[in-house]
Amino acid sequence: MPEPTLDALLHESRRFDPPAELAANANAQPSLYDEAARDRVAFWERQAQWLRWDTKWDTALEWEAPYAKWFVGGRLNAAVNAVDRHVEAGFGDKVAFHWVADGDTDRRTITYADLQREVAKTANALTELGVQAGDRVAIYMPMIPETIATVLACARIGAPHNVVFCGFSSDALKGRILDADARVVVTTDGQYRRGAPTPVKPAVDDAVADCPDVRHVLVVRRTGGDVQWTEGRDVWWHDVVDKQPDTHEAQAFDAEQPLFMMYTSGTTAKPKGILHTTGGYLTQVAATHRYVFDLKPDTDVYWCAADIGWITGHSYIVYGPLCNGATSLLYEGTPHPGDQDRWWKLVEEFKVTILYTAPTTIRTLMKWGHELLAPYDLSSLRVLGSVGEPINPEAWVWYRTYVGGGRTPVVDTWWQTETGAIMITPLPGVTSTKPGAAMTPFPGISADVVDNDGKPVPDGGGGFLVLTEPWPSMLRGIWGDDERYRETYWSRFDKTYFAGDGAKKDDDGDIWLLGRVDDVMNISGHRISTTEVEHALVGHPAVAEAAVVGATDPTTGQAIVAFVTPRGNVAEDESKGEAFVQSLRDQVAKEIGPIAKPRQILVTPELPKTRSGKIMRRLLRDIAENRELGDVTTLLDPTVTDMIRTNLSESAGGDGDGT
Ligand code: WTA
Repeated sequence: MPEPTLDALLHESRRFDPPAELAANANAQPSLYDEAARDRVAFWERQAQWLRWDTKWDTALEWEAPYAKWFVGGRLNAAVNAVDRHVEAGFGDKVAFHWVADGDTDRRTITYADLQREVAKTANALTELGVQAGDRVAIYMPMIPETIATVLACARIGAPHNVVFCGFSSDALKGRILDADARVVVTTDGQYRRGAPTPVKPAVDDAVADCPDVRHVLVVRRTGGDVQWTEGRDVWWHDVVDKQPDTHEAQAFDAEQPLFMMYTSGTTAKPKGILHTTGGYLTQVAATHRYVFDLKPDTDVYWCAADIGWITGHSYIVYGPLCNGATSLLYEGTPHPGDQDRWWKLVEEFKVTILYTAPTTIRTLMKWGHELLAPYDLSSLRVLGSVGEPINPEAWVWYRTYVGGGRTPVVDTWWQTETGAIMITPLPGVTSTKPGAAMTPFPGISADVVDNDGKPVPDGGGGFLVLTEPWPSMLRGIWGDDERYRETYWSRFDKTYFAGDGAKKDDDGDIWLLGRVDDVMNISGHRISTTEVEHALVGHPAVAEAAVVGATDPTTGQAIVAFVTPRGNVAEDESKGEAFVQSLRDQVAKEIGPIAKPRQILVTPELPKTRSGKIMRRLLRDIAENRELGDVTTLLDPTVTDMIRTNLSESAGGDGDGT
């Protein structure tokens, strides 16, 4: 399936109106836009009132670009908002999570009262391990209930969590632990992937060996079997957490108390620790979750099929749904060829009403064929969401037709780790949607598409996506690097947030996202920077130079293609061998993680450069995508491209999904 090319988008003219019944009863009515347009700060104040505040704020917004403070003077506790207040309101028996293990080998039902007890015990345990408000806790765990308890326990005691996706390598984990200066790491002995146990703790052991300030590693027994143990440092969850009292007195924190950091790829080799705080973040994740998915907490069964290791998991598995008192399905596994209809079994059995996933997954399911869905009753579904990358109109229509039975609205939600919550999206009961368009800014959000000079483009024009006013869940900075914060997001345009995405306004002024305009690639919805992968490749002793580009891929959106020149002392037949390419792929997996393994690595004696010595990435992308080459007049040696092209056509393709 091709990416949404400008041409395809321009010719996409289908419209889908909200179903009448949904529209009539929707949480968000058209008046929500009017209300926010009249006074956006007052609108956000009304949204903030859905939360429980121990002390109300004095000032809703203090904005001195690029620094925002929301709900200044207000005090609240994030875990109380997510859990305790629902129990106190009499919903203790309500299911917070139906947890289903990888491949459905185990299950647990967790009510709000259960979660309250688990979080209290975990908070007590972290305190016993010496964690205090303000200390950072790194979390490297699979999708199990203990992960959610840990995240909320950190929030409860005011210790910012730093969740690192379990697919990252020990090197990547180490970088994140050191940068955040985390004092405790919470992990598991192992995890189940596609039905098989795989170790997790060894990566933590390797990482922590070089982190002298990590005092404790708290380990959940998930898979069993032998693990290496460092006495004094390592502690078992069942020894430390299980014995704790199941109550914990929560303290209210300032609205601007750091809640978590989440590392994400930027345009340099070093990932950025995106910092989020408490009051504004909770306000916007809860409001967007309520309106974008039309959540009815009494009747809906909501399923966000992301991983907690990414921002989508933070905002739309943990904080948004729990603040709204939702009942969620939490599935540990991911779709894979050996288990193709698991999702539909789960939707039918749990009567899932809202499903939120990424275009890559939709395209994979689409590839497997809609016949797989036919035996299952999916009529419970009423809203479908998409996130993480541009969704091509074909995938959008397939999603609505086969998963949504031709009835359900599809909400294509644009946002980022940095924005914390959904920013551009249809509202399911209001918006007449267009397949492939994220449509309009959420009420209270100001977005635009501008040209090189920062001037808004007219309808029908394309340019850079920007956010022109501060929003409650915006990042408060990059951990430990204020300069980089200002430089990355606020230097391109004056007092305006530069998102790094290209976008287009159609003739109606609706917004279509066109992908990144910087060196960030989007592989299956995962952000990976070209420089990060290049850095990993040149770390290989036999590599002199490397250039990495994101090439369009029918399933993963983009795929990593690397061009590598070997060092002079590497023999030519050695550098052409499969073993060499494999060692390069392993090097990337070691430095970053399997998700960053290039689909294709091309070994070439030279890279095309401009006269000033810059690698011509655009040209390499054209080569990788097999397009006609654009302007090559600035190229130092035009024969290099011919050489690369010839080599490329001779080389074998990679394994596709980069794992
Ligand atoms: C891309 C994920 C098009 C975009 C929540 C953004 C999207 C990056 C969409 C952020 C969408 C996310 N349509 N592109 N609906 N949603 N993106 O930080 O390039 O992992 O800048 O946050 O994903 O990725 P991140």
